[in-house]
Amino acid sequence: MKKIMVTGSAGQIGSELTMLLRELYGNTNVVACGRKTKPSEKLLNSGPFEIVDCTEGGKLAAVVKKYRVDVIYHLAAILSAVAEAKPALAWNVNINGLYNVLEVAREYNCAVFTPSSIGAFGPSTPADHTPQDTIQRPNTMYGVTKVAGELLCDYYFKRFGVDTRGLRYPGIISNETLPGGGTTDYAVDIYYEAIRNKKYTCFLKAGTFLDMMYMPDALKAAVDLMEADPSRLVHRNAFNVTSMSVDPEMIAAEIRKHIPEFKMEYDIDPVRQAIADSWPNNMDDSAARKEWGWAFEYDLTRMTEDMLQVLGKKLK
Ligand code: SER
Repeated sequence: MKKIMVTGSAGQIGSELTMLLRELYGNTNVVACGRKTKPSEKLLNSGPFEIVDCTEGGKLAAVVKKYRVDVIYHLAAILSAVAEAKPALAWNVNINGLYNVLEVAREYNCAVFTPSSIGAFGPSTPADHTPQDTIQRPNTMYGVTKVAGELLCDYYFKRFGVDTRGLRYPGIISNETLPGGGTTDYAVDIYYEAIRNKKYTCFLKAGTFLDMMYMPDALKAAVDLMEADPSRLVHRNAFNVTSMSVDPEMIAAEIRKHIPEFKMEYDIDPVRQAIADSWPNNMDDSAARKEWGWAFEYDLTRMTEDMLQVLGKKLK
């Protein structure tokens, strides 16, 4: 059975991916790693946990050695809005952290999953049906680190044969752990506020279209890609994947089908609006479909039903 390590295991994706991997590969075979955010009791009690700061290569290597890890899901990263506020931190975590992971993977022969993002695109990228292979000139620190990360992962595969794979995630919508400082966070907050207060003040303008995905599809995509037949993979490290392209009004309208009195107001955050405006409206994910069979299960309607049901119970 595979031995797996998850960095950033207390984060939005990590907290749920770790639990899924434990279900699939066995609790003791999945070591969760985190820096300082306290993981949930569920995560702590279901399998091994280690404190690891990915900017320290030595500790990463020690954990890989201790558990004889052969696959690393490297989720520790700084999101777009925080990266604009703290560019040096974003560089250190997103670039030096990834570099350390790749070095350890090279030395101990591990496969590596690394998420890239819609943030790897910029204002000169075609915004509609954004092709898999296209112009990538992002103008945010987050985007710079994501493009460099894609290239670095490709390099480690070509140069050293490290089995690197990755996805360009859109905004991920979930109900377990909140995202920490991203531009797409509104699409999560809106559901929490719809349940709590029946109203939401949105920091992006109406008409700002971005790709989004519900967490179960995001998790499935990661696992399916890591299990895919390598001989079919042409792109490896930066597959466009999406489930829906939506703007704030579309989510609000879908919520109103369940909570008719839901009200939406706008108070635009210029920093996050500028970031969102530089990202695609909708990506073409045909390469992922062709090379490893990507398909989503949740569209806006199904996701909204599930989000409101889960949060309705959780926030009672
Ligand atoms: N969700 C991320 C962010 O908004 C995009 O990858 O920063």
